[in-house]
Amino acid sequence: MTTKSSEQNRTTISHLAAYKAKGERWAMLTCYEEMMAGLFDAAGVPVLLVGDSAGNNFLGEENTIPVTVDELIPLARAVVRGSTKALVVADMPFGSYEPGVAVALATGIRFLKEAKVHAVKLEGGAKVVPQITALIAAGIPVMGHLGLTPQSVHALGGFKVQGRGADGERIKADARALQSAGVFALVLELVPAELAAEISQELSIPVIGIGAGAGCDAQVLVYTDLLGLTENPPKFARTYLEGRKIISTAVSEWLTDVQAGVFPNESESFE
Ligand code: KIV
Repeated sequence: MTTKSSEQNRTTISHLAAYKAKGERWAMLTCYEEMMAGLFDAAGVPVLLVGDSAGNNFLGEENTIPVTVDELIPLARAVVRGSTKALVVADMPFGSYEPGVAVALATGIRFLKEAKVHAVKLEGGAKVVPQITALIAAGIPVMGHLGLTPQSVHALGGFKVQGRGADGERIKADARALQSAGVFALVLELVPAELAAEISQELSIPVIGIGAGAGCDAQVLVYTDLLGLTENPPKFARTYLEGRKIISTAVSEWLTDVQAGVFPNESESFE
């Protein structure tokens, strides 16, 4: 039996464990489409996350809560098709794992079979350990997500820093529970930098921070924040490109050319 060469070259969860052992930092970037996947993959991003942040960054929703498995699967499939080297992780959307182990397994299996992703991510601590255990037993690598978990934004009372003061112990306990359950990596979102650094040092699995300071093993950003496409990026994101400005200038120039009758020119036309 042969393995497609594109699959042989991909980052695996073993590579990520080795980076942790060597103290090598790495990055994960969200991605929702094939062309961007190709660009991020060629730039060397080792892990692409088909986040349910697609809700507010791609599908026009207010937040991640309305995103469905049926909406995320075609995006995840496109990211897998567009990349050859990255490990592709898909978010399990709100409602697709909370009801119990059977529902979580059905969702995880759909993501691997229909989108061909290499791992899934879900939000929550000790309370989702049964789902995580079942997914891993079925051969599906799982990434955890603690701190500000956007699917619980209403229960958390908004997009606020989590784990300040004594609440940090709750996040530490959940992080230990997820590691014991077998997650291969853990996202920590919007937690104090000191807490994130302590958890990163204590755990043997890679900890990926977003709004969690520089003491994590890896960093993740939403790509529309990084490229300046988001209208009001969060404080923790650094914008590396003025994407909105560049795109609107290009589109305005094209419109002007069309209105002036100078697009298309002769070389852009056929005899
Ligand atoms: O959905 C997402 O993009 C995420 C990242 C913010 C980690 O979960």
